This record gives sequence, C-alpha cells and structure tokens, in this order.
Amino acid sequence: MPTKIEKDAVTGAETTGHEWDGLRELNNPLPKWWLYVLYATVLFSAVWVVLYPSVPGFRSYFGGLLGYSQRDEVAQRLERASNAQAKFRDQIARLDIEAVKGDPELDRFALAGGRVLFAENCAPCHQSGGTGARGYPNLADDDWLWGGRLTEIEYTLRHGIRAQDDETRQSQMPRFLADGILTLPQVEAVARHVRSLSGLDKPDAGGAALYAENCAVCHGEQGRGNRELGAPDLADRIWLYGGDRAAVVQTIAYSRNGVMPNWSGRLDDATIKMLALYVHALGGGEQ
Ligand code: HEC
Ligand code: HEC
Repeated sequence: MPTKIEKDAVTGAETTGHEWDGLRELNNPLPKWWLYVLYATVLFSAVWVVLYPSVPGFRSYFGGLLGYSQRDEVAQRLERASNAQAKFRDQIARLDIEAVKGDPELDRFALAGGRVLFAENCAPCHQSGGTGARGYPNLADDDWLWGGRLTEIEYTLRHGIRAQDDETRQSQMPRFLADGILTLPQVEAVARHVRSLSGLDKPDAGGAALYAENCAVCHGEQGRGNRELGAPDLADRIWLYGGDRAAVVQTIAYSRNGVMPNWSGRLDDATIKMLALYVHALGGGEQ
C-alpha cells in the first residue's frame, strides 16, 4: 500500500497516506483542549494512586501516603453520634419522666428514639403505631386498662402485667364457668347484659342481677371499669377480646389473663422512659 502524504482536494486537509480502495484517510488531529484534559486526568490519577488507597495486593492493598480510610471515617462518625446519644440517654436516665417531658430537646430525642425502640420491642404484639390487635390493647387511643398518665405507663412497662416481677400489675378475673361459679345459661345471661351496656343486645334482667352480684366489684356498677384492677370498661364499645356474643361468653366462662412482659432488666432505664414517652404521645396520653 503506497504511503503518500498529500493534500485532499476537497477539504484541503492533509491525508495520512493510508488508502483503501481509493478512499484516503484525512489527518485530523484531536483538538488541543481535549488532549490537555486527557493529560490532566492521567496526571490526576497518578497523583491519586500515590496519595489514596489504590493498588490491590495479595493480603492487603497500598493504603496511600495520606493514610485515608473511609472505614475509619465511618467509625469516627458513629462514635461521635453515639457520644451525642450517650449524653442525652444519661440525662434521661437521671431525670424523672415528667422532667424529661418538660425539656423540649430531651423530649424530642426520646420520641424519635422511642419510635424505633417501639418497632423493635413492642410492635410484634401491639402492632406498628401501637394500634393493637385482639388481646393486645390499642395504645394510641384514650381507653386505658391500667392508666394513661406518664408515670402509670412507665410503671406498666417496668413491671409488666401478670408478669414475672414482684411488683407487676396483678389481677385475675375468675373463670366463671370453668370454676363452677356460674352455669352456662347464667354466663349467657350476664353476657347479654354486658353487651346491652353498649347497645349490642336487649337488656336482660336476670343478667343484670348476676352482674351486680359477680362482676360489679371489679367492673363497676355501670360497667365503667376499674384501673386499679386493670378491669376494662365494658360499656364503651371498645373490646380487647371481641364484643361478639361468642367472644364475650368465652371471656366470662374461661377469663383471659393477658400477659404483658416486664421490661426492667431487659431494657435500660433510659430506654424504658423513652418508650413510655413515645406511647404517651401516641394520642391517648393523660396528664
Ligand atoms: C408479648 C406481647 C407483648 C409485648 C411484646 C408488649 N406488650 Fe404491652 N401489653 C401486652 C398485653 C397482652 C397487654 C394487656 C395486658 C392486660 O390484659 O392487662 C399489654 C398492655 C400494655 C400497656 C397497658 C395498656 C393499658 O391500657 O393500660 C402498655 C402501656 C403497653 N402494653 C406497652 C408496651 C410497650 C411500650 C411494649 C414494648 C416495650 C410492649 N407493651 C410490649 C402484650 C405485649
Ligand atoms: C376480680 C376482678 C374481676 C371480676 C370479678 C370480673 N372481671 Fe371481667 N375482667 C377483669 C379483668 C382484670 C379483665 C381484663 C383481663 C385481661 O386483660 O386479660 C376483665 C375482662 C373482662 C371482659 C373482656 C372485655 C374486653 O374488652 O374484651 C369482659 C367481657 C368481662 N371481663 C366481663 C366480666 C363479667 C361479666 C364478670 C362477672 C360475671 C366479670 N367480668 C368479673 C376483672 C374482673
């Protein structure tokens, strides 16, 4: 192939001298700016390779003259964050819960942390957002079994309900059928009376009499409940175990005895307070 450098007649540009089947290649060099950018990036990468972690080896890698490590940086950032957290947590552990509530900065920290802690520890039973499920009370409404004040919620968390804790909240509804206190027709009559308190059944005189005799001590004359005993309000149409006839009969016949774990010993002091503040702020918190 002949290599003859000559001028192209149409464009006036030099040819490279390469020719294929009569087609000749024009010699158009790359623009200068482009070349300089290329040289600059080559130079930059050379400097980078020397200063920063770069070339892999068998056991390790070349760490670079600056000793930079993203891993260290993350570790430092985590440490700074946990130091900041530790400061808040110490204060929360030291103050009583009302004082934590009164400090806007601590309260904000507690609520944000409480949300995460609740999802980890409580949502399996109480559902996310604390909305509850059958047997697990809704913590976001203002219907409380044991009390909705901050200190009451904190106590419930610390010692649990019918839990393995010397100071746990304790009470036991009798198993009226199983223990032979009432017959099945009597249980059904008193169930009709209970349902009539919230308009779900017609009044039942026999049931009302049985109620006054057997149930009013705990649930109150009007069925409005008793927080000392964790006895639910039976007249508010909010049911822990269901308000249909079968569920109410089941509750009276065999009782339920829901268990809420005690968290002292499992969670530290600051964590329990953060959770109590979170639950209190869900919507039903009382003063
Ligand atoms: C294993 C299931 C379970 C877990 C986990 C659980 N709870 Fe409970 N919780 C219950 C049950 C059951 C009750 C109702 C007990 C009763 O019948 O009195 C309850 C009751 C409560 C009450 C009292 C409500 C009221 O009306 O007085 C509060 C407050 C509460 N739980 C908060 C929490 C928090 C906060 C957590 C997470 C740290 C948590 N619970 C984790 C089962 C659970
Ligand atoms: C010693 C106190 C006590 C007595 C007496 C008692 N209860 Fe209860 N009752 C409770 C407690 C405590 C609960 C909550 C149980 C739980 O959370 O597991 C409860 C729960 C219930 C519930 C479930 C409410 C719901 O929201 O699902 C019904 C219904 C009920 N009782 C009806 C009765 C009737 C009817 C009688 C009388 C025949 C009676 N109770 C007697 C303490 C008592």
